[in-house]
Amino acid sequence: MSRPVFFLLCAGLVGCLIGCSSHRPSPQYRIGVSQCSDDAWRQRMNYELQRELIFHPELSLHIRQASDNSDTQCQQIDSFIAERVDLLIVSPNEAEEVKPAVSRAYDAGIPVIVADRQVSGEKWTAFIGGDNYAVGQLMAQWLLSIVPEGRPLRVLEIQGLPGSTPMVWRHKGMMDSLQGHPEVQIVASACGAWFRENARVVTDSLLALYPNVDAIVAQNDQMAIGAYEAIQHLKGRVKKEASVHSLNTTANKDIKIMGVDGIVDEGGGVEALLNKEIDMTATYPSRGDLVIQTAVKILHGEPFEREVVLPTVLIDRDAAFPMQQIADEIDRQIAVSEELESRYNRLWDTARAQRIALILLVFFLLLLVVLAVVLYRVYRYSLRVKREREEHARIVAQQQKQLEDMTAALERTKAEQSVDERFVEQLQNTIERHLNDSEFSVESLSEEMNMSRAQLFRKTKTLMGVSPVELIRHIRLRKAKQMLLNTDMTIQQVAYSVGFTSPSYFSKCYRELFGSLPTARGK
Ligand code: FRU
Repeated sequence: MSRPVFFLLCAGLVGCLIGCSSHRPSPQYRIGVSQCSDDAWRQRMNYELQRELIFHPELSLHIRQASDNSDTQCQQIDSFIAERVDLLIVSPNEAEEVKPAVSRAYDAGIPVIVADRQVSGEKWTAFIGGDNYAVGQLMAQWLLSIVPEGRPLRVLEIQGLPGSTPMVWRHKGMMDSLQGHPEVQIVASACGAWFRENARVVTDSLLALYPNVDAIVAQNDQMAIGAYEAIQHLKGRVKKEASVHSLNTTANKDIKIMGVDGIVDEGGGVEALLNKEIDMTATYPSRGDLVIQTAVKILHGEPFEREVVLPTVLIDRDAAFPMQQIADEIDRQIAVSEELESRYNRLWDTARAQRIALILLVFFLLLLVVLAVVLYRVYRYSLRVKREREEHARIVAQQQKQLEDMTAALERTKAEQSVDERFVEQLQNTIERHLNDSEFSVESLSEEMNMSRAQLFRKTKTLMGVSPVELIRHIRLRKAKQMLLNTDMTIQQVAYSVGFTSPSYFSKCYRELFGSLPTARGK
């Protein structure tokens, strides 16, 4: 595999791994949620908001609750502005008090969705909330339906937080609908500020003042349950203090109670209906899902409805049971869908892990192939090197052997040469010893050298290129030449002293060998 192909494969692998590592898009939009309170109704709304995010993974929700305090809520909104959230959902504690913070967010370019309770002014992007005026009308409708025969219905009203729009509009809806119905008398209205505990306290005081009350309308279920608790408490006291007449009157009566919200969660209005704590409630939908859907449209620049007013209906005890059943069934379905979702996520995670494992496997296989190729090449290279080394060693050994052979041959030649040299020397010495002996012949020489005449002939011919006769003569003549050069001896004297018997023959031989006559005396 060529290097570029390998690097391309590596790059592809890294890309795949990065692609596999995130299967859900990370949120791009931060949504701030400013809740005025943290009761069961708010928690349901928050749950609905969160659940809807399953379909919108591009959103992240940041919920803060102001514990029914408008100043706290303004501060929380300001911190959302500082954090530059992409959209703000506000459920204002009080319409006037929270207005400045909402306007600041709107002016800062943050889209604002007002949910449930309204805010003063026009600086908001969308509104989604229940029809509080209709809630008030339903209260009046219920009151009119329980007016006793022959006398008016005396009613206590327990209101929510003054300054919050549901408080204002629920009251107005009820009062408007009761116009022209003197048979329903609102004998007293008091503030419970949406709290059960507050409602218990105010109901207790009001019943002491108005013992003949027939019904109580509370602007939410929590305050309706608080009113019920106050009546139960009163009934308990009556048993102990039977003499107190005013208490007696109330305790003996069956005071009807209505609340608002109708949520099916634990401690909510539907449970209170089934427990016979209250007699009627009206639904007040929170629709967190719709709020998120509207937020998505705003963030994506799609058209949306600016004001959505949610309808409301009455729920009596007869409706409460099927409602609870349906709600339980819905909860079961939600639990199933949540389980399915988590299984889906687990499956997805497993699939992702398998994909990564597969990619790694392919990568390692490729790596193995590359390694195998490299190893094969290294193996072939080492084989070649080994072969070359062996060849080299063989040549060196051959040369070594040749060298040794040559050395041995040389030694042998040397030895042979020295034998020949010694032979020549011995031969010359022998001849020189008999130089003045004219009888010294080839026979005498071969005898002294312990060889046959034929052997001697071959040897002198090979080593010196002359026959033994010639050798004896040449040595005699060379000696004669020296004498002629170095002494004053006569030619005759010299001829006899080197073994010649005839001076004329000596002269003839001398000239043959040296090219000049002895008379020249070696010159
Ligand atoms: C919850 C709540 C509800 C009521 C609504 C009015 O905080 O008090 O009980 O219906 O707010 O905004």
